[in-house]
Amino acid sequence: PEPGWSAYADTVVVGSGIAGLTAALAARHAGSVLLVTKAQLSDGSTRWAQGGIAAALGRGDTPEAHLADTLTAGAGLCDEEAVRTLVTGGPAAVRRLIDRGFQFDTEEDGGIALTREGGHHADRILHAGGDATGAEVSRALLARLDQLVDEIEVIERALVLDLLKDAEGRAAGITLHVMGEGARDGVGAIRSRAVVLATGGLGQVFRATTNPSVATGDGVALALRAGARVADLEFVQFHPTVLWLGDGARGQQPLISEAVRGEGAFLVDAKGERFMPAMHPMGDLAPRDIVAKGIMRRAMESGLDHLWLDARHFGEDKWRGRFPTIWESLHEHGIDPVRDLIPVAPAAHYSSGGVLTDRWGHTSIPGLYACGESACTGVHGANRLASNSLLEGLVFAERIGRDLARCFAPGEAVTGEPVADEREPVLLAPAVRGATQQAMSSGAGVLRSATSLAATRHTLSELGEQTDDEPRTEAWEATNLQQVASAMAALAARREETRGSHWREDYPKQDDARWRVRQVLSVDENGC
Ligand code: SIN
Repeated sequence: PEPGWSAYADTVVVGSGIAGLTAALAARHAGSVLLVTKAQLSDGSTRWAQGGIAAALGRGDTPEAHLADTLTAGAGLCDEEAVRTLVTGGPAAVRRLIDRGFQFDTEEDGGIALTREGGHHADRILHAGGDATGAEVSRALLARLDQLVDEIEVIERALVLDLLKDAEGRAAGITLHVMGEGARDGVGAIRSRAVVLATGGLGQVFRATTNPSVATGDGVALALRAGARVADLEFVQFHPTVLWLGDGARGQQPLISEAVRGEGAFLVDAKGERFMPAMHPMGDLAPRDIVAKGIMRRAMESGLDHLWLDARHFGEDKWRGRFPTIWESLHEHGIDPVRDLIPVAPAAHYSSGGVLTDRWGHTSIPGLYACGESACTGVHGANRLASNSLLEGLVFAERIGRDLARCFAPGEAVTGEPVADEREPVLLAPAVRGATQQAMSSGAGVLRSATSLAATRHTLSELGEQTDDEPRTEAWEATNLQQVASAMAALAARREETRGSHWREDYPKQDDARWRVRQVLSVDENGC
């Protein structure tokens, strides 16, 4: 639809999680900033993050050790220079967050309390409110944003639609749909000289996920339609310990943080026996993909679809003090973790791939940046190391702000007029959302094969015919999910090996000779 209103900002930031807020705070040094967010400011994935932020802050820990753990978890596909940027920038990024008001948990001596999670060989996860790190990050950054209302304008309930480009193919702004009032209601256009995508994850592509309902891959879908390079989409991390609520569970599921295992909980099978120590030298704290596969294997051997986490030995005081959010959530579901085993199964958690960027957040389209979960900086490879995601948001979003300040003087004129997009827009029916989730979970989920992926791709292609004329948020979200799912299933079908979080039943081995390469969707293949 034609935009009914327009606005201008030097930089438009899309998304209000840790990456979007950090980018907006940093970009204000390079001119005016407009931040748009799909629901309310605090509604993204960030506030759900439990475990914490990984950074080499502990005594004896080093960025080199953090680098080594990240590369190991990434199973041969990390971009080592990007990881180096992440881990060397980590301690300063955390200090900047603390300067912006973030309050971390402390030891009795006042030092930062650090815990351990899967794949880490050191205690390097700082946390807040016990298991409410993301909520505290969100609170602190939103409080800072509040102090800067004159410099950063915000539009809520604004779903980004497409990228505007000028005649040279540079990003020139976005179109968006605002459920607003007055002058800025309905479809509008924001012209800008830079666009920063920080739209978060895409877990809603699957039936059960830890992600909130807003995580519909909007930034990745926009990038696919705009012809930006997108990479590593086949690597969706399934978190091993998500509370199992039965076969019918749909949508966002409660997470049992890896930090619970970091503090001594362990997985048990139907006989009450531990199985992870026999599967990996790091046992229950092996990298996340290995624990997820371990649970699935042992569950399938016993004809089950879930296993259990045992943390009864924590006792009530430790549960309430260290993991208050999880304690609360377990009780809401009738589980007392001091008396009961906790039923758990893997569920979709994090997209290691996304819009391909360099170490300054540049995508393949000049003027278009990406950061946070919607980006693919290369730091995660085939499997993200626990608690590197909040850190990635902090480090790379700040670098985008620095790049903008270096490239543009405040007030410098916009370079080009947006040109009309001649392509016929496709909008799918809202019901496509549930059908996409069903198809992805049955054929392209934690365990995949050529046959299952072919069936999923066939269904997705049929779903692509279910068009709709009424422009509403539900239809745009369904369209984004179907397009992202199609790209993901195509890359998963092509990768004939098992590596990191990509698990092929028909190719159970890692194949370094053929597949130690990253898959980048080219412009022609995007074809949405
Ligand atoms: C968790 O708390 O287990 C999740 C942390 C993460 O995804 O890195």
